[in-house]
Amino acid sequence: MVRRHLLGLNEPVSALVIGGREGIGGAIAAALLDDESTVAVTVTSRDVKWVGTPSSDTRLHRCLLDVTKTEQMVRLAEELSHRQSGLNVILNCTGLLHTEGFGPERSWRHLDMQTMQQVFAVNTFGVALTVRYLLPLLPRDRRAIFASISARVGSIGDNRLGGWYSYRASKAAQNMMIRTGAIEAKRARPNLVCVALHPGTVRTALSDPFTKRKAEDELFTPSESGQHLIDVLSGLSSKDSGYHFAWDGERIPW
Ligand SMILES: NC(=O)c1ccc[n+]([C@@H]2O[C@H](COP(=O)([O-])OP(=O)(O)OC[C@H]3O[C@@H](n4cnc5c(N)ncnc54)[C@H](OP(=O)(O)O)[C@@H]3O)[C@@H](O)[C@H]2O)c1
Repeated sequence: MVRRHLLGLNEPVSALVIGGREGIGGAIAAALLDDESTVAVTVTSRDVKWVGTPSSDTRLHRCLLDVTKTEQMVRLAEELSHRQSGLNVILNCTGLLHTEGFGPERSWRHLDMQTMQQVFAVNTFGVALTVRYLLPLLPRDRRAIFASISARVGSIGDNRLGGWYSYRASKAAQNMMIRTGAIEAKRARPNLVCVALHPGTVRTALSDPFTKRKAEDELFTPSESGQHLIDVLSGLSSKDSGYHFAWDGERIPW
């Protein structure tokens, strides 16, 4: 009998986790490495010091990547294309909601060109660059996964509360990049699962300023959310490609 591996693959996982130093990406990378059959996990971060720190697990590779920098993306793609193990999974876990300089807009009065550009650069354009340079590294002839963590608040149909203009709009645009990439990918990679994911509300640096008054049981830990997303991806097939799924497997309206 053929052994089913993590994420519903017929072969051991060889993954790239973009933005996997901490938060949900960090938890997903750890969960993938927990499985003994996993061949390799390449984790990216912008943190030069963290990237340069040696790991005791020889299957873990740390690489530098700022998703808004095309030259870094090209370099990473080149490096990965020479790896013997190949890649069958790409998970984008990067995201930007706030910095020390700005937070999500509560009103249109807070809309600001520089802030919008920064948020869209990570949440939309960075994801587009991963489609452009990294998705083509996935195999054409068998199951493979390209998933990007988006957010339910990026759903236009589900927007009843308003606010958070840049984050919402950049995630809605990310969803369109994923959908459009999934359609193009289908021609050469009919077995690819290319989806956007909503991780739930998760206790991380990104959500921290907005979850102070939430009870523990209203939030996931990064490990809980990461495990949910792995379970959801494991159950998806190429028929589900081009859609947005929540942590519980529910399909989210655009
Ligand atoms: N937490 C929640 O409640 C929640 C809810 C809905 C959706 N999400 C989404 O879930 C994803 C993961 O977020 P998280 O909650 O785990 O937050 P997090 O802990 O703050 O992680 C965000 C990651 O994004 C990376 N990043 C930011 N800007 C980057 C850039 N220019 N280039 C490359 N990497 C960049 C950071 O990596 P380095 O600093 O190491 O470079 C960091 O690891 C995001 O897409 C977020 O929008 C989260």
